[in-house]
Amino acid sequence: ALSGLGAEVLVESRAGEAAGFLDTEYETRGAKIAATAPDVVAASQVILLVRINFSPAFDSRHTLVGFCDPLGDPQISQELAHQGVRLFSMELVPRTTRAQSMDALSSMASIAGYKSVLLAANALPRLFPMMTTAAGTITPARVFVIGAGVAGLQAIATARRLGAVVSGYDVREAVREQIESLGAKFVPITLGARAEGQGGYAAALDEDTIRKQREQMAAVFKDQDVVITTAAVPGKKAPLLITREMVYAMAPGSVIVDLAAERGGNCELTRPGETVIDHGVQILGPVNLPSELPYHASQMYARNLLELLKLMLIKGEFKPDTEDSILTECLVAQGGAVVHPRIQQVLKEVHA
Ligand code: NAI
Repeated sequence: ALSGLGAEVLVESRAGEAAGFLDTEYETRGAKIAATAPDVVAASQVILLVRINFSPAFDSRHTLVGFCDPLGDPQISQELAHQGVRLFSMELVPRTTRAQSMDALSSMASIAGYKSVLLAANALPRLFPMMTTAAGTITPARVFVIGAGVAGLQAIATARRLGAVVSGYDVREAVREQIESLGAKFVPITLGARAEGQGGYAAALDEDTIRKQREQMAAVFKDQDVVITTAAVPGKKAPLLITREMVYAMAPGSVIVDLAAERGGNCELTRPGETVIDHGVQILGPVNLPSELPYHASQMYARNLLELLKLMLIKGEFKPDTEDSILTECLVAQGGAVVHPRIQQVLKEVHA
């Protein structure tokens, strides 16, 4: 598709192999293969990546597009800015209707939500669906999903398909209907505080409100076989929703999958990238789940990047439309400086 837009495309040799895409397939579609990543960088103007890290190989000729965690780790953006790089962050693509096809956060969250249920089903010593057999009737597993954004809703849908009895909860009351339309029960919790933030996201809650939330959730919690948590607030540490005591109240053999592990975790016992077993409860803290389904993760991410690049490639020439609001919202750095007001603010706070 990029060749069709007039770009010359270089792919790092074997970059797609583990995901099921061979070098020859890129070549038959018009791309050239470069031996190593540094060869690609040296010969390219625009570089598309999954995760962007600092590299001395980047300079002012380069435009980088990818995930760079500008809110969580703004230092990387600053260092790249100092190198003169033009940097576009996939995390900051606005969540508007026009930008929907470019929304890589949603693509990856869908995959993570699906996979989290498979991990839970694998770890759980019980069956998910109800089964009527000659050896007796098996009752279905009870699954509770906390945080019903993109990942949470996908987890609810997947757990339902596997036959579990599912309930869901989110601080944003607006998702009640979406949870119910997937055949799950909405768990009502009264907070007495405003939980809707900007752009459809949740607002950060104060510690007192979170405590209220935990107390009411504890009653639902102890009857669950599986809890999947996805609660997050952009640019903030994940809220601590599951205390050690809540875990200990669960039956041995229960499973918690903490999708917020990378952002500090929703559960007190989570360790990112590890499985903790405490009082017979398994707490999984998976990181980078989309990489475990690389075929479709790549395909979806590639489509997101392509749609964004269409705003930058005009008749084969690389000319980002600087007036386009989608590009101005995800442009982090250019001309030697961080230009995004929100990231400038975060950097100020870090240095204060
Ligand atoms: P996220 O990954 O930032 O957060 C996940 C979920 O955790 C959110 O639903 C949030 O409300 C919830 N949460 C935060 N604090 C919580 C707490 N203390 N307790 C329980 N739940 C808590 O969010 P995600 O999935 O990236 O997107 C959230 C929303 O953004 C979507 O549901 C939608 O409304 C909006 N969105 C809009 C899009 C569009 O219009 N194109 C595309 C994608 C998302």
